[in-house]
Amino acid sequence: MVGTLPNLSKIALVGCGSALPSQALENKQLSQRVETNDSWIRSRTGIISRRIISKDETLTSLGSIACCSAMEMAGWDPESVDLILLATSTPDDLFGSAPQIQAQIGAKRAAAFDLTAACSGFLFAVITASQFLRTGAMRRALVIGADQLSSWVDWDDRRTCVLFGDGAGAIALEASNSGKEGILGFKMKSDGSRGDCLNLRKTSSHLPLVEEISHQKGVFNPIEMNGKEVYKFAVKEVPAILSELLQATNTDPQALDWLLLHQANQRILDAVADRFSIPYEKVLSNLSNYGNTSAATIPLMLDEAVREGKVKPGNLIATSGFGAGLSWGSALLRWQGPI
Ligand code: UT7
Repeated sequence: MVGTLPNLSKIALVGCGSALPSQALENKQLSQRVETNDSWIRSRTGIISRRIISKDETLTSLGSIACCSAMEMAGWDPESVDLILLATSTPDDLFGSAPQIQAQIGAKRAAAFDLTAACSGFLFAVITASQFLRTGAMRRALVIGADQLSSWVDWDDRRTCVLFGDGAGAIALEASNSGKEGILGFKMKSDGSRGDCLNLRKTSSHLPLVEEISHQKGVFNPIEMNGKEVYKFAVKEVPAILSELLQATNTDPQALDWLLLHQANQRILDAVADRFSIPYEKVLSNLSNYGNTSAATIPLMLDEAVREGKVKPGNLIATSGFGAGLSWGSALLRWQGPI
């Protein structure tokens, strides 16, 4: 794999952090709004509660808090950060929210930009950031996964609104040849021909601008999802891409300490674990508390597991993200913690 090529830096995963909105929305409260019930949501998804950004919170502020926690764990000065990548589909500003995070955390030297790949966004961003570190172009990167799907769901559509929540997580990556490799391999895939089954689309009204010229005034529609199709996609493609990754890195599934998948549905986590005969105790899951927070699920789960002492220095983690695009990816990670 890439990390074994000569003259390229190793990458260490040295810190993590997360931030959650203060408002918790329970299943039974949702049944005040749409025709649903706790038992349906729990049995079909595993979700019990989710967090919703309140009027006093923003995605940018959550992202900043997550970054500060990750830097604190890593023992970094904000001015030592070279790169900030924000994986999100729901920025506070369509021009990008990463620069606002850069300013809020005082990372004055860092270049900051957004990257969009829906629920695969965090993994795609980790892999992107790692290229800058691997080549020696940069030394320290913060990668954030943060989403606020509560702004974009149709709260009267019970097929989607029960699934999603808001949150942010971040990881600190450092080019370092002192320890073991932190990103042992990765795979990324996209298939736009199947993109119709999950969208947050712009629709345009054509308005006259000046004589013979019109323009498209855009608004974004609420999320539309064909749940069954996305479910079938996930239970087929996630095991396939994980298999490819494990083969490419010559890793026995039984050697994994943890399976950390995008937290969309407990049934998907169980199906993937079954496919590799991985015991459920090794499958990290917190979606009962937070639902599907899109790009945030993986770093949110990692941070919780590290701080609970489940994920320990040296642990091997197979991770996979999947979602709109369609996009999906996997990475084999080794958690190091502060150097
Ligand atoms: O991060 C992006 C990735 N997204 C995903 O991974 C989502 C993947 N898909 C899923 O997780 C599942 O397909 C869902 C959880 C979205 C749906 O579960 P399902 O077992 O596929 O249910 P369904 O859509 O087939 O619906 C079964 C029944 C339907 O009623 P009928 O037609 O059988 O009478 C639905 O109308 O359940 C009904 N239903 C609900 N009932 C109560 C759908 N949503 C609800 C609801 N409460 N919220």
